[in-house]
Amino acid sequence: MSPRTIAVVGGAGFIGSHLVDRLLVDGHRVRVADDLSSGSLANLAEARQADADLTFDHIDITGPEGEAWISRHRPEVIIHLAAVPRRVTRSTDLAAAWARTLALLDAARRHGSPKIVVALPASVISGNPRVKDLPLKEGDLQPRGAAGILARTVINTLEHARARHAVEFTALALGTVYGPRQRPNDGVVASLVAAATAGRPAMITGDGKQSRDLIHVDDVAEALAAATRRGDGLTINVGTGQATRVIDLWEMIAPDGPAPRATPARPDELARLALSSARARIHLDWSPFTPLADGLDRLLGR
Ligand SMILES: NC(=O)c1ccc[n+]([C@@H]2O[C@H](COP(=O)([O-])OP(=O)(O)OC[C@H]3O[C@@H](n4cnc5c(N)ncnc54)[C@H](O)[C@@H]3O)[C@@H](O)[C@H]2O)c1
Repeated sequence: MSPRTIAVVGGAGFIGSHLVDRLLVDGHRVRVADDLSSGSLANLAEARQADADLTFDHIDITGPEGEAWISRHRPEVIIHLAAVPRRVTRSTDLAAAWARTLALLDAARRHGSPKIVVALPASVISGNPRVKDLPLKEGDLQPRGAAGILARTVINTLEHARARHAVEFTALALGTVYGPRQRPNDGVVASLVAAATAGRPAMITGDGKQSRDLIHVDDVAEALAAATRRGDGLTINVGTGQATRVIDLWEMIAPDGPAPRATPARPDELARLALSSARARIHLDWSPFTPLADGLDRLLGR
């Protein structure tokens, strides 16, 4: 495969930094822009030490610097990892987040970047699937909450840009991602691992029977890399197809640990999720490859 110039917006974040490592292994020229609002340069420490073609710019992609950055690098693909922030609580968060996607699409169109790949949380566009619907296939978008509205708006905007301005896209709807470099409060696996490591009981909402599709960050980086070449015009699930209950996850992480403590159930909590990877297999030539037990063992140094 010939090396290409690939821009990673949010490349100093959890998923972004693993993707950068992955793209450098393939010999690509990698250009990272990150405003470090939730990411960290420490995440890129290994990549920056490697003898590889990597640049980093500390900028907000939404502003004029963002457009100048795209114009300077003229990437063949832009990978956008700042489309839907973890917490979308106020309408201004929604507007600011959507503005990032609009700014990137505008810059891509003006400066000849033919494709944009976007990562979105599947949990906010999957509605409330029934047991018999799992593993869930891609279908009509069913937004949940403000983040769901944002994710659907981002997909609609990408479809519009494709039809109107010939900017190609692939949107990946990710399961619950876990792995090294995740901050302790940023995901169920990271928070349970932090509790286990400190010898504390896990704090689990409700009865802990809610389930998630837990996908290792290496598998996600591989799917994002595949989407730079394939999956045009599609929204594609990236998950394992397995629904893991939070109480069972705690048992796997800390089999001899203290009993978990229950915190009040959240009325809007998603009851279950597992994602079909059939479309990813066909259109990205990607399948999940890290079994949960192995991913957890590696994370826990077992
Ligand atoms: N982590 C998960 O479990 C998960 C699950 C599903 C989907 N996703 C999606 O994947 C994407 C990345 O998630 P993550 O967990 O790596 O998050 P993250 O917060 O670690 O990474 C996002 C990065 O974007 C940067 N950023 C934010 N606004 C920016 C701006 N205006 N200009 C430049 N950089 C900016 C942040 O500093 C950060 O480094 C998000 O869109 C998220 O919705 C994550």
